[in-house]
Amino acid sequence: MMSSQPPRPVSETLPRDVLLTLHEQYGLVPTAVSTLGGGHQSNAFRLDCGVQHVVLKLGPRWRSSAELEWSYSAAEHVAQAMAVAAIPLRTTAKAQVVRVGGRPMTVWPYVEGRGIDVSSDKECDLTAAVLGRMQARLATWRGAGARPATSPFALAMRRPARAPEALRDAGLDRWLTRWRARRSRLQGPMHGDFWGNNVLFDGRRIAAVIDWDDTRVGSLDRELAWAVWEFCGNPDLAALDGPKACRFLARYASGGGPVPVADRSFVVPLIREHLRYEALRALGAAEHGEVVDHGYTASAIRAFGALRGQSLGSAARPRRLRPKAVPAAPDSLQDIAARIGRTPRCGEQTGRT
Ligand SMILES: Nc1ncnc2c1ncn2[C@@H]1O[C@H](COP(=O)(O)OP(=O)(O)O)[C@@H](O)[C@H]1O
Ligand SMILES: [Mg+2]
Repeated sequence: MMSSQPPRPVSETLPRDVLLTLHEQYGLVPTAVSTLGGGHQSNAFRLDCGVQHVVLKLGPRWRSSAELEWSYSAAEHVAQAMAVAAIPLRTTAKAQVVRVGGRPMTVWPYVEGRGIDVSSDKECDLTAAVLGRMQARLATWRGAGARPATSPFALAMRRPARAPEALRDAGLDRWLTRWRARRSRLQGPMHGDFWGNNVLFDGRRIAAVIDWDDTRVGSLDRELAWAVWEFCGNPDLAALDGPKACRFLARYASGGGPVPVADRSFVVPLIREHLRYEALRALGAAEHGEVVDHGYTASAIRAFGALRGQSLGSAARPRRLRPKAVPAAPDSLQDIAARIGRTPRCGEQTGRT
């Protein structure tokens, strides 16, 4: 039987209630703790517990345990077919999520590896195939039920009072209206945050797909298009590498990805739609005094403009894309804030949103 005494703290990083929960609910006593970077929503730590290495994650308060349990059921479904899907440890009471100080706490097996190097063709090829296989597997997840509602305090729910002019595009809006009405649009559960830092590479192969916190039901072509931008886009140049994007789509298909990729015309509009969404939610969060990455937001606005009018065409007639001349873009937080009529606070920090 476990004692109610907390284990002796080994680090100032972990508060007493976290150590107590680790001990009582997971039977873990860390002997070394180090902070893990690369995330953008949680605090993550590597804990050495004797021979066992685990990751401790403390998520934002607004994230409910119910939505996380739902997300991790999706991960479990994928893990039954694909060993790369990371799934959390269960407590002695079989829970995957516990709350500490109001925050959701989860514990995961530590996986050796690092995030994807997007300049490596090999790593992008492997990643694209994993995405295809993962989407195909998630499409077989029955009994998922509805995803528990997202909190109104979630970052995803933020919008600025007024959208900047640079994010207006009636042509894109018309395209999106037609796209939303398309009956052939594939919808289903998806990972929801598929980018380089959430895919771990061990030097030889993809070792893990982590961070299932944003798993939701949505349009699979939207997730695919955004992955194309994450792995084949250059946010600094506001340009998409066309040949690389076509190769990514082909590897996705060879992995069994369910979204048809012969016609690639959906890719750029859906990237732009997501760039706009990310910029708007970051501007909305900033209006609420939250910490946002203003450099990232400015580059999203810039890329939204630069990708206007581009297309990947169809597989039959591949077209090489050249980055367009980048239009004048906001290069500082002041510029962005001016567009939405707000003065930025001094000392606002960066952090991917
Ligand atoms: N199971 C794991 N094994 C190894 N490293 C991990 C694991 N889980 C998370 N990490 C590291 O911690 C970082 C943050 O974790 P993540 O789950 O992505 O949190 P966030 O929700 O904040 O993005 C990851 O980018 C990765 O570097
Ligand atoms: Mg992450």
